[in-house]
Amino acid sequence: MLAVDSYNNYQTPAQIREKTEMTNAEVNSFQVPKDVVSKWSVEYTGATPIEELIQKRIDEGTEDAFYHIDLGKVVGKYKQWIDNLPRVKPFFAIKCNPNTAIIKTLASYGVNFDCASQSEIQQILGCGVAPTRIIYANPCKMKSHIRYAKAMGVEMMTFDNKDELLKCAEVYPNAKLVLRIITDDSNSVCKFSTKFGAPLDMCEELIATAKDLDLNLIGISFHVGSGCMSVASFESAITNSARIFKMAERYGYKFNLLDLGGGWPGNDSESAIAFNDIAASIRPLLDRLFPTDVNIIAEPGRYFVAESHTLAVNVFAKRAMDSGYGDRKYLYYINDGVYQSFNCIFFDHNSPKPLVFAPGDRQNECRSTVFGPTCDSMDCIAKDILLPELEVGEWLYFKDMGAYTVAAASPFNGFQSCPTTYYIESDVN
Ligand SMILES: Cc1ncc(COP(=O)(O)O)c(C=O)c1O
Repeated sequence: MLAVDSYNNYQTPAQIREKTEMTNAEVNSFQVPKDVVSKWSVEYTGATPIEELIQKRIDEGTEDAFYHIDLGKVVGKYKQWIDNLPRVKPFFAIKCNPNTAIIKTLASYGVNFDCASQSEIQQILGCGVAPTRIIYANPCKMKSHIRYAKAMGVEMMTFDNKDELLKCAEVYPNAKLVLRIITDDSNSVCKFSTKFGAPLDMCEELIATAKDLDLNLIGISFHVGSGCMSVASFESAITNSARIFKMAERYGYKFNLLDLGGGWPGNDSESAIAFNDIAASIRPLLDRLFPTDVNIIAEPGRYFVAESHTLAVNVFAKRAMDSGYGDRKYLYYINDGVYQSFNCIFFDHNSPKPLVFAPGDRQNECRSTVFGPTCDSMDCIAKDILLPELEVGEWLYFKDMGAYTVAAASPFNGFQSCPTTYYIESDVN
């Protein structure tokens, strides 16, 4: 069981050791905690290539789609974070992937959590994480969920409008309130500013209202949009936050929390900006604008999990068609689709790339469309792409499937919402 922990302090290895089942050697060598390894039967795979692991499962005779979830990659991301942004405490946004093995792994290292609803809070508390390690980061909340947060001792929550302040005054007047400001999300794949974030010219009125209601405002949060492709978006949101910190002083508030939200890339090589570059540019800015007694946190989701999941799918059906150009095109049907993991195509604006498993030396590529298993023609994963001709029973695989995939999967049409899962631990680089 994890002990109550302050949200603003990193834990030294010795402190982590005191609070978890982890040994000093595990903490120092960045391993998956022992209790997770035993509960989820995590196989240590070291430097074995993922293709070799997939082959092993196929050789075992499975026809079902399956995931390899690499908890070593999750731990590696934590290491990268503390190496590059030591002042910023991460609160993992579990909406991105609420897998309990991942949550427990991150919790063991002292990572905290961003929850958006009662049941997300319930899940984190159920993992033995103290309520002080949660931020309820949904600016528009149901009263019953606020009451639950209050009863459980979750203190920090975001808001961005006057009605939410009135709600908090009625239901949870002692809450530690964090004002979410609007951002320029024009350089992000998923934009949030049409739905959330107080316009900058409304912040003063909101702060004044909070003062009138005698509410406990502690700081500023923002979200630059998920899949952010511009360091400048982070920089301008940080600069705007510093201005609102100053404005709040005029109303007698001394803010002590800055929340940098999500938007951090999940895969540096696929993204327009690399995590280390964002970190290098915002580190000096944060130090210049915010004194050391300001606690700085962030709500990374995609960052921690995108690279951890590799999905293997079976081609269980095939149709050859006349392409209309004098050759053939092929329709393939695989056993995971847009109602399951590939909902990310719609909700996360993602375009997962199918890789042919064991492509051999097939040179000819044909026009191909890949469908999921349901009876819906919208259940299409890739349209008119080039693939070597595949046979029924062959396999495709997709890397980087950990963010916004299984989190929103459904069992529509009677197909399993989440494929079989194997947990592995590769070496942390
Ligand atoms: C409030 C909030 N915080 C954090 C996140 C995580 O964002 P990302 O996965 O881009 O890091 C989201 C994503 O929707 C969010 O809504």
